[in-house]
Amino acid sequence: MEPAHGLEELRRRAADCTACDLYKVGTQTVFGEGEVGAEVMFVGEQPGDQEDRQGRPFVGPAGRVLDQALVDVGIDRRRAFVTNAVKHFRWAPGGRGGKVRIHKKPTAEQVKACRPWLEAELEVVRPKVVVCLGATAAQALLGRAFRVSTEHGQWVEWPYEPMATATVHPSSILRAPDDDARRVAYAGFVADLALVAEAITGD
Ligand code: URA
Repeated sequence: MEPAHGLEELRRRAADCTACDLYKVGTQTVFGEGEVGAEVMFVGEQPGDQEDRQGRPFVGPAGRVLDQALVDVGIDRRRAFVTNAVKHFRWAPGGRGGKVRIHKKPTAEQVKACRPWLEAELEVVRPKVVVCLGATAAQALLGRAFRVSTEHGQWVEWPYEPMATATVHPSSILRAPDDDARRVAYAGFVADLALVAEAITGD
């Protein structure tokens, strides 16, 4: 990819991306949101239904879990850059006679096709810390062998400048089978993000 001069240029270019077939099913490219120089970059999987409609990452139910956890650990979302490994919504028609759009995990090829955008975001934003939310983002950035279940909440050895770590995807907390499981999952998510808060504030 040609070097870009800034986020707005990247965003404009990404809007016309046809590197995989997801541009045919998503409403629009959902590019990352935040500022150049943001201290922390959160990388999710792909936009969901709300994100696809609004054109902004993490503004639906999973985004609300992320927002609450950021408040709980004292990270101001306005100081973060929030993006996804894949920038189009992959879905299939589901309930209510096909009216509900059911999330489908992106394929490895789709993740690979989108990777240049993620790399370009990293290059332009230059965060101090990168946080992968869930397995798709973790495997896209940290390698296919990475396991969030056992390696979450640890700093990863990698050859690039930002510190990197991974935690669960906030939507996995929403899918917990009952309130107790949800509380435990949320507490684990917050504990992982507390490490990130510590790293960016230098406490
Ligand atoms: N899930 C994600 O991975 N990203 C979003 O932007 C929303 C939901």
